[in-house]
Amino acid sequence: MPADDIPGVVVTGAAGGIGAAVAREAVARGYRVLALVRQPPADPSVLDLPGVRVSAAEVTRQDVSYVVARALAEFEISRVDVLVNAAGVVRHGTTLAATSADNVVESLNVHCVGALRITQACLPALLRAPRPAVLNMTSRHGSLALASAGGIPGVEVSYAYRIAKAAQNMLTACLHQELAPRVRVLAVHPGQVSTAIAPADADRSPAEAARHLLDLAENAPQEWSGRFLEPPANFLKW
Ligand SMILES: NC(=O)c1ccc[n+]([C@@H]2O[C@H](COP(=O)([O-])OP(=O)(O)OC[C@H]3O[C@@H](n4cnc5c(N)ncnc54)[C@H](OP(=O)(O)O)[C@@H]3O)[C@@H](O)[C@H]2O)c1
Repeated sequence: MPADDIPGVVVTGAAGGIGAAVAREAVARGYRVLALVRQPPADPSVLDLPGVRVSAAEVTRQDVSYVVARALAEFEISRVDVLVNAAGVVRHGTTLAATSADNVVESLNVHCVGALRITQACLPALLRAPRPAVLNMTSRHGSLALASAGGIPGVEVSYAYRIAKAAQNMLTACLHQELAPRVRVLAVHPGQVSTAIAPADADRSPAEAARHLLDLAENAPQEWSGRFLEPPANFLKW
């Protein structure tokens, strides 16, 4: 098959958790996958699959766009049908007194600016796909509506995480405003998933979350671009 005809997926934070599961699910569905990792997975067999190319990409680095563009060219991924921005960090500090400003800046850089850099790098290849989708992994905790209504009783989440996810949500809205309908851009809360950063109420596996995410990328109607939702179709307030 000519390289232009092979559908492609790019996923960040792919060394484990949801990102690795997306890479595995995508290759099972016939995509060519660029799995971007900060450092090699603890268990290398997780991504050791035909059709998955692993590349080092620290999303906070200024030159990461160049690194990703080069990796796409080297691995002959000429079109990106789905970009999943899954890289994320969780930092402590659920009160103002316990919050480190440096942690807030780092979290913004990973969740929001990192997703911006990777989307910039992938845009030419996204525009070569017939019906591309960008899924930004957000969180229910990035909802301004939820926070201003008092949050979820008994669930404490750091300032850094909530601020970074809210900023990433604005990135999603900006990208939607510029790129839709050609590119669908969605803010996706993946649910409560049993990963390294799993919340206490985690109730689904990374593999299940990955199936939902790729179903969403493949099937979401254009009108869902610019929306904030948990798959399959639970729409959240910004
Ligand atoms: N699990 C949940 O229930 C849940 C709920 C809502 C939203 N989310 C979001 O879903 C996404 C995936 O989370 P997860 O649960 O799969 O957690 P995870 O297993 O901790 O995965 C996060 C990945 O991001 C990578 N990463 C962190 N900083 C990075 C950087 N600067 N550059 C590149 N990669 C970086 C991590 O790499 P290292 O291993 O090297 O640190 C890790 O592989 C995150 O954005 C998270 O906020 C998760």
